[in-house]
Amino acid sequence: MLAQASPWHAHALQRTAAVLAAPLAVPARLEWTTRPGQGPGAEVLGPDLRGKRLLELGCGPGHNAAHLAARHGAHLTAVDLVGLQVRRARSHYGRLNNLTFITGHALHYLHASGKLFDAIYSVFGAVGLATPELLLPAIAQRLAPGRVLAFSVPHPQRGGRSPAGDDRARRDYVTLPDRSRLPIARWEYSTERWEKHLSHAGFRLATAQEFHDPRMGHWPVTLLIRARKL
Ligand SMILES: C[S@@+](CC[C@H](N)C(=O)[O-])C[C@H]1O[C@@H](n2cnc3c(N)ncnc32)[C@H](O)[C@@H]1O
Repeated sequence: MLAQASPWHAHALQRTAAVLAAPLAVPARLEWTTRPGQGPGAEVLGPDLRGKRLLELGCGPGHNAAHLAARHGAHLTAVDLVGLQVRRARSHYGRLNNLTFITGHALHYLHASGKLFDAIYSVFGAVGLATPELLLPAIAQRLAPGRVLAFSVPHPQRGGRSPAGDDRARRDYVTLPDRSRLPIARWEYSTERWEKHLSHAGFRLATAQEFHDPRMGHWPVTLLIRARKL
């Protein structure tokens, strides 16, 4: 069944059915966490993003990429695995300048692209959903020394879980708009394990921040990591 082979396609299919594919106003903030308005914004990627080449891995409907292109004057490439998501992103924000949406696996895009970026980021996107041993070195190849990689992932201790005891993926679930759940693989690393993988790939961990959401109990729900290419 297609839905079993591609939970992210099923997710996009239900979202597309639920939300009208119409032009949207550009969001006022870049959101790194599950709680709009919480935590830092675009400054995580650098102090002045005007004219900077940024790459988002796993952009979904494109809200954050649209914010960076329209409010900061950055040049955005935003990649998502699922063609339906990219179609939806284009219908929301395709009118904006300096914003290109591309369908593809993050890893394949990074390998095929000959470009260098000023910063690369992922918000609950491809980082954490693709093998870090492959993805992080591929990201490093597309960044010059000193450039930033930033990503947010569901916190490995959310809901009282514990982070992975080894480098392998764990089973997690995507919850669809109709509340059904489909299994996915997710790399649920502690900050220390991310730091080890980042360091192998040629990055230095700069900051790791955790965020709470009072609606989700007292455990942290989001982990935001910022690293610099060595
Ligand atoms: C939870 S959504 C987050 C979307 C968006 N960043 C946001 O914050 O709204 C995860 C997205 O990552 C995409 N994705 C999953 N694995 C990917 C991969 N290997 N390469 C590119 N995109 C991927 C999915 O299709 C989905 O749109």
